[in-house]
Amino acid sequence: MPTLTILTHDQTHTLTVEPGANLRRVLLDQGFSPYAPLTRRLNCGGRGLCATCGVWIDDGTPPPAHWHDRIGAWFGYPRLSCQITITADMTIRLLDDKRIWGGPDTEQRYR
Ligand code: FES
Repeated sequence: MPTLTILTHDQTHTLTVEPGANLRRVLLDQGFSPYAPLTRRLNCGGRGLCATCGVWIDDGTPPPAHWHDRIGAWFGYPRLSCQITITADMTIRLLDDKRIWGGPDTEQRYR
């Protein structure tokens, strides 16, 4: 069973998740939000359309599968949590400075 480590601005949480679980669903079910306050209710519901569910992946990054993730990886934008299937251990960071989408992380650019 994969371990999901969630980093917030001041805490670390560790969960064991079912292989194949959707990252966005796991976060919401466990009381975490990948969204900014404004988009918590105004989002596409995990359809990969609004790009508001981005999280940073610090370890265990799955290969980009969605068109946004391929472009986002190039320009250093967060990954869409709704498009990530958890199959292995992963460490993610929730964005605490996000207004809607979250800006690029210049340190992550071109990884
Ligand atoms: S919830 Fe809209 S793109 Fe992920």
